[in-house]
Amino acid sequence: MSKTYIRHASELVTCRGKKAKHGKEMSEIGIIKDGAVLIEKDKILQVGRTAELDQAVNLQDWEVIEAEGKTVLPGFVDSHTHFIFGGYRADEFTWRLQGDSYMSIMERGGGINATVTPTRNASLEELVASGRERLNRMLEFGVTTVEGKSGYGMDHDTEIRMLEAMKQLDETHPVDVVRTYLGPHSVLPEWKGKERAFLDYQLNEVMPEIRARGLAEFADIFTEKGVFDVNDSAYYLERAKNMGFKLKVHADEITPNFGGAEMAARAGAFSADHLLKASDEGIRLMAEGNTISTVLPLTAFCLKEPYAPARKMIDSGCAVALASDLNPGSCFSNNIPLIVALGCIYMDMSIEEVITALTINGAAAVDRADRIGSLDPGKQADLVLLKFPSIRYMPYHTTINLVDTVIKKGKIAYKKVW
Ligand code: NIG
Ligand code: FE
Repeated sequence: MSKTYIRHASELVTCRGKKAKHGKEMSEIGIIKDGAVLIEKDKILQVGRTAELDQAVNLQDWEVIEAEGKTVLPGFVDSHTHFIFGGYRADEFTWRLQGDSYMSIMERGGGINATVTPTRNASLEELVASGRERLNRMLEFGVTTVEGKSGYGMDHDTEIRMLEAMKQLDETHPVDVVRTYLGPHSVLPEWKGKERAFLDYQLNEVMPEIRARGLAEFADIFTEKGVFDVNDSAYYLERAKNMGFKLKVHADEITPNFGGAEMAARAGAFSADHLLKASDEGIRLMAEGNTISTVLPLTAFCLKEPYAPARKMIDSGCAVALASDLNPGSCFSNNIPLIVALGCIYMDMSIEEVITALTINGAAAVDRADRIGSLDPGKQADLVLLKFPSIRYMPYHTTINLVDTVIKKGKIAYKKVW
């Protein structure tokens, strides 16, 4: 039966709306006590109080899920990951614990470039197999849509293979995968000092085929000192936009006053991501425009760096999204409960703001706020049921995964055995 009725949710969190929430709006998450949802096929039909929806339905026509004592909320959108790659870099983590920095490891030929050879050596089947396992782990945390980036091949064939792997996973795994081209993820040694030519190679030799085959919707770049400067990044983004890509930027992660957020906002990017060192001007431009401020606290945690100023961003009117940044180097984690804990405890965000950042604002960061990220009639039926009666249990049950059931496109995709 493709008709499901979830009723008597202690707390139904709707996050209602079809666009990103800025500033104070991030606290308005539309909680319905004793809430209920009607789902038909893959769509949400109606949302309201159980007493109201009970009037509207004939119970025997519906597959009923009694959600008493539980919280029901939109599926999480992890809007920034690098989950397709070959090999591991556990040695780098150990070096960092001993005082090495992410950038000094990168300068010595480690970091992103160290993942290139194992990724080039991985077959499509291998990338799909490891990617599938990672998607399974995401689903357990209530993630129903994920964004994934290429960027560990930096040549025509491997970049395309990474995107093909994500396409295959999108078609065969319950978690929806949004694909981003990140060819300019670092500068390979053979292109050092020839950054503009490296970008031209990608823009001319790789990206037209990716667009023609619909392999990626977004284009991204690592704008950072020692990687791509603001001028080269702006050049790449403008040409990518003209080719039909939507834009994202790795901005202001490490170097202060680098101007990444400003450049991303001026380029009309959907999101600027990381932002640990975002300037006041960058924050102002993101708040004024439509560029989502995506913060990635698991990366700051793993790199032992100060967290992005999310409180200041929200108070300045930005639309903040939270994402994992799962990748083989700076952050091998996709742990949503840890994001919640860091958001609430170290970034001074309320749990309501954290939920908005993981749902509707994450959806907006991948240009899907009209389809996912909230419990509104007509949207895709992607929902999470928590074992406990309120979202307040999420930071309180620190880093414990409370996800009980995940419903994807109207079907149960995951059920926890407690
Ligand atoms: O978002 N900062 C650039 N890129 C990734 C790290 C990728 C890696 O280290 O493999 C990030 O943190
Ligand atoms: Fe990243």
